[in-house]
Amino acid sequence: MRKHTNTLSHFRKNLTQIEKMRVASQYAAQVLTMIEPHVKAGILTEKLDEICHDYITQELKARPACLGYQGFPKSICTSINHVICHGVPGKKKLKNGDIINIDVTVEKDGFIGDTSRMFIVGKKPSAAAKKVCQVAQECLYLGIQLAKPGNNINAIGKIIEQHATANHCSTVHEFCGHGIGQVMHENGFQVLHYDQQQSPGQLLEPGLTFTIEPMINLGSRHIKQLPDGWTVVTKDHTLSAQWEHTILIKEEGAPEILTLRADENIEDIFSITAKTLV
Ligand code: MF3
Ligand code: CO
Ligand code: CO
Repeated sequence: MRKHTNTLSHFRKNLTQIEKMRVASQYAAQVLTMIEPHVKAGILTEKLDEICHDYITQELKARPACLGYQGFPKSICTSINHVICHGVPGKKKLKNGDIINIDVTVEKDGFIGDTSRMFIVGKKPSAAAKKVCQVAQECLYLGIQLAKPGNNINAIGKIIEQHATANHCSTVHEFCGHGIGQVMHENGFQVLHYDQQQSPGQLLEPGLTFTIEPMINLGSRHIKQLPDGWTVVTKDHTLSAQWEHTILIKEEGAPEILTLRADENIEDIFSITAKTLV
């Protein structure tokens, strides 16, 4: 049996840092709540970006951590339909039936919160659109349920892949969740969204703060990078959905969902069960 050679211990946050993570994460969650009524047919994604930017800087007196991150030109990511992630806000106009992920990162007082959710534009989504959004959200919630001290981090990816596959969806391998704190992506702290069978995995410890952010495709898991250097799409152009939370591992039991929104029900999150292939 292989041993756990590298631990996550040095990523643990102290109480002062955790308090700052709570504030930054709640700010990021508030941006998603604030933007919801604007996610309507006819709006340009660059307008959504502008509204979020102004809210973060002027209302929250905080910094949109995506802006300038490795040269990213905008304050949020807007990923529509077959776009998996890192869609760049621009002249694209939302239309009824679209599904869109808005990904928000907020830095406040030196700490960063990171969260994203799907929105369905209009009241008549296709069955396929509804399904991929729902399966991706269930995958996030199932992963969160396993984020307990002593659990192997690999258990998170395993349940996500299992649930996606059981629903005839696939899970993207090229992007992952991540440790988060004073930097957006902590080096050496990755949360994969698939079963990493050959890896011994790291054990979860109290005080760890990280994201789970499964990207779920209706078709194959394979990706294509667009020439803009950012936008990632499904290779087969099928729909893709993603939900993301920043969470905190507690001393025992269930994690604290730092980016929890008012529209989410904590009982639902912890009671949802995995669909398994029979
Ligand atoms: N928020 C994304 C994540 O979940 C990262 C976006 S990086 C950016 O990790 F540069 F595209 F903004
Ligand atoms: Co993230
Ligand atoms: Co994000």
